[in-house]
Amino acid sequence: MTTDNDLASVAKAMVAPGKGILAADESTGTIEKRFKSIGVECTEENRRAYRDMLFTTKGVGDFISGVILYDETLRQKSADGTPFAALLTKIGSLPGIKVDTGAKDMALCPGEKITEGLDGLAKRCDEYVKLGAKFAKWRAVITIGEGTPSDACIVANAHALARYAAICQAAGLVPIVEPEVLMDGGHTIDRCEQVTERTLRETFAALASQRVALEHMVLKPSMVISGKDCAKQAGVQEVAARTLRTLKRTVPAAVPGIAFLSGGQSDELATAHLDAMNKIGGAPWALTFSYGRALQHPSLTSWKGSAANVPVAQRALHHRARMNGLATRGQYRVELEKEPANA
Ligand code: 13P
Repeated sequence: MTTDNDLASVAKAMVAPGKGILAADESTGTIEKRFKSIGVECTEENRRAYRDMLFTTKGVGDFISGVILYDETLRQKSADGTPFAALLTKIGSLPGIKVDTGAKDMALCPGEKITEGLDGLAKRCDEYVKLGAKFAKWRAVITIGEGTPSDACIVANAHALARYAAICQAAGLVPIVEPEVLMDGGHTIDRCEQVTERTLRETFAALASQRVALEHMVLKPSMVISGKDCAKQAGVQEVAARTLRTLKRTVPAAVPGIAFLSGGQSDELATAHLDAMNKIGGAPWALTFSYGRALQHPSLTSWKGSAANVPVAQRALHHRARMNGLATRGQYRVELEKEPANA
């Protein structure tokens, strides 16, 4: 039986100084896209081998507090027969599980998404706990466009996030609450800031109304950033300052930590933004990473599906994890990118 104490200590461990979360919970459809980019067939064994390569990286547990898995991955094993959940526990990383069933087109809201997966969630959470999961993730997607996001979309997604978080806490899992404002589009950083503030306000109002314990969750937001196609791209300092300002306006200090998603930012920029926020300092919550692409990209492209490339791919993951670990302390410097990996 999980106690409140356990949930609080898991949440704290997820955002421990010097560490962050590896998001390796790509659904089969998403990992297929990633594999396509490196010319690898999306078979169950290739998916297992790729995750095995990531999780057996020596020393990665020094910088990775937890790993988010996909349903299939939580049931898979390392080459030596150790279940992935047990392997992660051995290296000092908490196993987590993506529990939403994806963002689907939202009825009557053209161009917008609503995340599904609440039906039967309590039962699935019970099984995940038995399989060793300590925390969970649910991603809501907010799209900036002409006339979007709608209130309907923000409110429905906030409500679903809060219902998910309550169900997880009741089952003994720490929920990662992820309202992602997409960086796709030509919008300005001003617009991103407005939408992020509105989304976070609604999310925390819904969490309060569903009785979610803020001490027992981790927030996973996007950063306040210029749209990908915006002609004027805000610099690192501006992104850091605006992101912190928005979070301070909306996120209660009782939340132990904020673990950002990378959302399509380049690897080094995602690290630099996190570092800049921690260099500013003074935030009431830990500020860390829960990156998918920005942690895995160099490793995936070095691996290319070949066992012979495992050492170089693991060095690439270790390096990015170490750089982001430094960023959680505000100790990252771009010159460190040139240091030999595993240094
Ligand atoms: P990215 O860092 O690639 O955005 O992935 C994080 C994640 O878990 C999205 O749900």
